[in-house]
Amino acid sequence: MDTPADISHLPLPPGSSGLPLLGETLAFIQNTGKFLEERRRLHGDVFRSHVLGDPIVFLLGPEAVRWIFAGENKYLRNRWHSSARKLLGKQSVAMLNGSTHLERRRLLAPHFTYAAMRHFVPRIEALVHRHCEQWLSGTQPFKAVDAVRALVFEVAIVLMMGESRVDPAYMSRLFKQWVAGLFAAVPLEIPFTAFSRGVAAEKEMRAYLGSLVAEREKLATQPPDTLGSLLSARDEHGRPLPREAILDELELLLFAGHDTTVTATSNLMMLLAQYPEVLERCRKEQREVAGQGPLTLEALRAMPYLHQVIQEVMRLIPPIGGAFRVTTQDVAYGGYRIPQGWQVSLSIRGAHKGTSWTSPERFDPDRMGPERCEQNPQGVYIPFGGGPRVCVGQHFAMVEMAVVAALLLRGYQWELVPGQDLSLMTFPIPLPRDGLLVRFSRR
Ligand code: HEM
Repeated sequence: MDTPADISHLPLPPGSSGLPLLGETLAFIQNTGKFLEERRRLHGDVFRSHVLGDPIVFLLGPEAVRWIFAGENKYLRNRWHSSARKLLGKQSVAMLNGSTHLERRRLLAPHFTYAAMRHFVPRIEALVHRHCEQWLSGTQPFKAVDAVRALVFEVAIVLMMGESRVDPAYMSRLFKQWVAGLFAAVPLEIPFTAFSRGVAAEKEMRAYLGSLVAEREKLATQPPDTLGSLLSARDEHGRPLPREAILDELELLLFAGHDTTVTATSNLMMLLAQYPEVLERCRKEQREVAGQGPLTLEALRAMPYLHQVIQEVMRLIPPIGGAFRVTTQDVAYGGYRIPQGWQVSLSIRGAHKGTSWTSPERFDPDRMGPERCEQNPQGVYIPFGGGPRVCVGQHFAMVEMAVVAALLLRGYQWELVPGQDLSLMTFPIPLPRDGLLVRFSRR
């Protein structure tokens, strides 16, 4: 990398800043894929814009991905778009940088290892059975996205707060309103806007979580869940984490782990229904491993094809299309200057649809087979990000999705209701526009 003194002569990347204040946010939100593709065609793999409140440079391709991962805490640091900065607590892992970020990751890590998931498999299994029974007895057809949302929310609560007395329906309503505010285009507290409703929901949710945390603080020993470890943590002076930091972390983990998993699971259901030959291969694999008792990590490991399918779903439709960083100094990339304080976009969607993939728009789980996947250079398949900010919950998400999928494949069938709009919203998360209407039945 050039030093700042060397690069002042370099031009800014090509592109446009759009309208005052709004920039090109509307085009970005309306169809992010199209937004990126049009500009890539016009300018190549490096271009600038102005979205979600800040100037931004989009960098596409595996080399750019590696440059972003390598730049963490050197020339880049994490920064969320302005609505999220106002609505996500400042003391959560996603907002921290440098050594405090690493410390928090170390604190969270033991609860999110692959081995730690052993403990959750039976609890996820029980929740899936309960929810599937509700799906069967409720009105048909129904929106699978909403049904999956309710399931994933309860699973997240169990992971984080064990058997705490949480009311999932109440929390989920507040959560939905809060998340809508997190992605508001204009983060101003004007009454009746998504942003101001998000602010109100966050306040109420924080008060509710605060009372649950206060109850848990009274316990002599903390149960082995995420809240337990946050409450037991001590810094080098023996001080506990402040209550606000604990609440920030709980909210962040709920947010980071929820819509992402809902998206991947719903899109998995959609693609399985659309590709009967893939569905049949998955069912065959289940017949071969089923009958060996309840699900365990070992049983899940014996389902390589299902894992390939899940991986390919997240390649084709990455639940998080991209993430943002901010430059901490003027930096040069690709012959251009990126000024200090500008956003840099890590494009996961760009990586997954790039020229490294043959026919990237085709759904082909076979491309995720061990030999073929290994040929991919680093930076080409990054559904969980990478570098120091790689997803904390990736093992949890993979195990959860595999458990849900295995149980659905073994015991149930779902048909897509004809005539619905299956095209995907692209912002903030790629879900079928009509909510994936299905008729659900026992096999
Ligand atoms: C299919 C499901 C999921 C996907 C695709 C996903 C994807 C990602 C990606 C791409 C990042 C990196 C963002 C960046 O570079 O700024 C990330 C970060 C993160 N994820 Fe996930 N995630 C998923 C599920 C989860 C779950 C279940 C949890 C926790 C319960 C979780 C917790 C986090 C946290 C805390 C971070 C921030 C890490 C940091 O800033 O150091 N995620 N995730």
